[in-house]
Amino acid sequence: MASLSSSLSPFAVLGKRLTAQPARWLVTGSAGFIGSHLVESLLRLDQTVVGLDNFATGHRRNLDEVRSLVTPAQWSRHRFVEADICDLDACREACRGIDFVLHQAALGSVPRSLANPVATNAANVDGFLNMLVAARDAGVRRFVYAASSSTYGDHEALPKIEERIGRPLSPYAVTKLVNELYAEVFARCYGLAPIGLRYFNVFGARQDPEGAYAAVIPRWTRAMLLGEEVKINGDGETSRDFCFVDNAVQANLLAATTDDPAAVNQVYNVAVDDRTSLNRLFDMLRDALSDFRPDVRSLRPVYGGFRPGDVRHSQADIDKARRLLGYLPSHRLEDGVRVAMPWYVSRFAVADEVCR
Ligand SMILES: NC(=O)c1ccc[n+]([C@@H]2O[C@H](COP(=O)([O-])OP(=O)(O)OC[C@H]3O[C@@H](n4cnc5c(N)ncnc54)[C@H](O)[C@@H]3O)[C@@H](O)[C@H]2O)c1
Repeated sequence: MASLSSSLSPFAVLGKRLTAQPARWLVTGSAGFIGSHLVESLLRLDQTVVGLDNFATGHRRNLDEVRSLVTPAQWSRHRFVEADICDLDACREACRGIDFVLHQAALGSVPRSLANPVATNAANVDGFLNMLVAARDAGVRRFVYAASSSTYGDHEALPKIEERIGRPLSPYAVTKLVNELYAEVFARCYGLAPIGLRYFNVFGARQDPEGAYAAVIPRWTRAMLLGEEVKINGDGETSRDFCFVDNAVQANLLAATTDDPAAVNQVYNVAVDDRTSLNRLFDMLRDALSDFRPDVRSLRPVYGGFRPGDVRHSQADIDKARRLLGYLPSHRLEDGVRVAMPWYVSRFAVADEVCR
């Protein structure tokens, strides 16, 4: 596996420190894609983890998979709470005795928010506010939350720098901007110590490939494996800074545990500082899959209209996270695709068996 970081990176040092001095973590959205990776990584470091999810878009099978990947002793340090973050009492209960909150629970997807802005607002704004109140009252040491690159909105300059944002282009983007505003106010008014992580197109195993709102990498991979049409919205020259999930995990753990006062009450880009067009992504996924399934080699995409609410190009400047958190992405897009592909192949091999 290609790696951009040395074994003595700040993240590697942190891993040793955490194992020696375990802490208590709350991961909301723990049955989802990023949340389940956070749970897995924390348990592997012998931490005590409470997970909370209402299965709106997450799955029990993600937690079952985590269970199969850690030792029984590590799994025994995990407790799952099935609850909705719109329930303040449930948030309070989950925050009790917690050192670090990694708040991931939200309804993702720009198109979903365009179809149902009320549901997105309820989870992403009302639920977020409940989590802030619960974390404040429980006196947690740090509140790290999933922000989003969608906050850059119509600001076209590249690469994206944290301090320069535009106007939101979707209800989802509004909710993620509101999260940042609330977090800042809770720092100012109540002394909470929040850090927002603006994720840029995170991908990896367990990212849901099903449904109308699936993200591009799992959606295309699924379509290629099932012999379905791969549709590119627009001309394929739209570009994104795709970020492998291990990089997002690293950013969360570094943000939660930083001792640097200058690093707290900030937002950070979490990406790789690279930009890949959808056309190039298509080729990359098809080539990676062809190692398992030679029949996909001849696949070609079909092109459709541009999607409303989508930004044209996205690329992150990650200098702030590098400087203040010691963030060093361990995987570029192609490294992450190589790691994730076997998971998708086996997932759809299983689906095939079940259908037969
Ligand atoms: N994946 C990305 O590329 C990306 C990019 C930017 C931001 N984000 C943010 O990262 C976070 C995690 O995203 P993900 O990709 O893992 O998505 P996901 O849908 O896999 O995970 C979100 C989890 O939150 C849970 N959830 C939703 N509403 C809830 C509620 N009201 N109460 C309790 N749980 C609830 C879902 O069931 C799900 O398990 C989200 O906040 C998302 O907005 C993700």
